[in-house]
Amino acid sequence: MYTPKEVEKVLFTKEQLDERIKQLGGEITRDYADKEPLFLGVLRGAAVFLADLMRAVELPLTIDFIRTQSYVGTESSGKVEVDLMNIGDINGKDVVIVEDICDTGRSLTEINKALKALNPNSLKTVCLLDKPSRRVVDFQPDYTGFVIDDLFVIGCGFDCGGKYRNLPYIGVYKTE
Ligand code: IMP
Ligand code: MG
Repeated sequence: MYTPKEVEKVLFTKEQLDERIKQLGGEITRDYADKEPLFLGVLRGAAVFLADLMRAVELPLTIDFIRTQSYVGTESSGKVEVDLMNIGDINGKDVVIVEDICDTGRSLTEINKALKALNPNSLKTVCLLDKPSRRVVDFQPDYTGFVIDDLFVIGCGFDCGGKYRNLPYIGVYKTE
């Protein structure tokens, strides 16, 4: 197993992730029966999760990507800007935002605001991880893979300085 020295410990193995993502895919398949949802992945972190999740959903879905940019002055004044890239017309569509993690809740709050303004038929959010103890803005994802403590994680899309996204498991980042 590829284990960089920055991995303090493995939090979720590839097998645990596969299993949970399969369950999430099943839930979404049931909830969106007879619909053709548009999955909007939030780059770059959610790319890995989106790739796994979409293959666990048995529906004629489509995908696209958006981005966020955080301008962090201080922790408390962190501002998020949403880049809708070229998603086009989502009026009347059933949109599912696919995000890696809900941390402070700022990104997902802003993303939801920006997308709601474009008049989708429905708008839901799925997160692979949720860190409720870190919440600054009140936000609750509709679907969550795993709830975790206030830990900084890497792997399965999660990065530190752009690295470690390719680890097939989720690990705790070693700070020392
Ligand atoms: P927010 O604080 O909820 O707006 O989340 C902002 C972004 O911070 C997430 O989309 C992730 O990209 C990133 N992030 C939050 N926690 C972690 C972590 O533990 N590891 C890596 N990235 C994280
Ligand atoms: Mg992100």
